[in-house]
Amino acid sequence: MTGASSGIGAAIARALAGRGWRCVLLARRRDRLEPLAAEVDGEVEVCDVGDRAAVERTAAAVLERHPALGLLVNNAGIPGRSGFLELEPERIEEVLRVNYLGGVWCLRAFLPGLERGRPAHVVNVVSVAGTVAFAPSGPYSASKHAQLAFSRATAMQLRPRGIHVHTVNPGFVETEGFPQRSVLASGFFRRSVIKPEQVAEHVLSVLERGSTETFVPGWYRPFALAQAIAPGLVGRLAGRRAYR
Ligand SMILES: NC(=O)c1ccc[n+]([C@@H]2O[C@H](COP(=O)([O-])OP(=O)(O)OC[C@H]3O[C@@H](n4cnc5c(N)ncnc54)[C@H](OP(=O)(O)O)[C@@H]3O)[C@@H](O)[C@H]2O)c1
Repeated sequence: MTGASSGIGAAIARALAGRGWRCVLLARRRDRLEPLAAEVDGEVEVCDVGDRAAVERTAAAVLERHPALGLLVNNAGIPGRSGFLELEPERIEEVLRVNYLGGVWCLRAFLPGLERGRPAHVVNVVSVAGTVAFAPSGPYSASKHAQLAFSRATAMQLRPRGIHVHTVNPGFVETEGFPQRSVLASGFFRRSVIKPEQVAEHVLSVLERGSTETFVPGWYRPFALAQAIAPGLVGRLAGRRAYR
């Protein structure tokens, strides 16, 4: 479970533990992971998912303790909070390294464990931003588009090998890294903000139903379809109305 130290990841870890999963909680902040591990009877791994060598070391240590895995949740992610022309180049690189490549490195490193544990599951926490691009969140959105393509491609590749890849696209969720209620403009978008626990419940139902690609809340799906049909119009409207 990556990005388990706060927000959606911590909520998913609690929900999974409630269903009897033993979770290995992975993130960079040990001080945040340890109390959660005590609460859910889980294990802690401190790791930066954007650092491929660190991910490989961590996966080797986890697979030593747990040779067969039932589930990998790729959830670690960071916001960009600005457009391509304003955001510092280093942050643009970091957003891509964590949000997109982090999941790639984790899947590759944990794959032997998933194969030994099959039928196994991978949940990629992507975003509505992976399907809708608009100017104020360009770099973040680009990283999530890449993560979505990764998730869709590996779903096809791994299904015949007994590993089910699920893409979960949340809309606006109030968390530490994404304090949506304070950055969103008032009105429709602010009212649509949900809690991390709602995403966690959704992930449990995705695992039960075996859904391949979902939105939470489900009514975001038409936005994704609309952007595919009329990208300029939807991007302009969303960019103008979403943020303060
Ligand atoms: N909140 C939203 O509106 C929203 C909407 C759609 C999708 N999402 C996605 O949901 C996921 C979780 O975000 P959140 O809203 O729950 O935000 P959050 O509360 O800030 O949680 C992000 C988690 O990712 C971890 N993380 C960040 N960089 C990392 C790195 N380099 N290596 C390992 N772990 C790292 C953080 O832990 P450490 O800092 O301890 O490493 C933290 O546990 C992200 O992928 C985000 O893009 C969020």
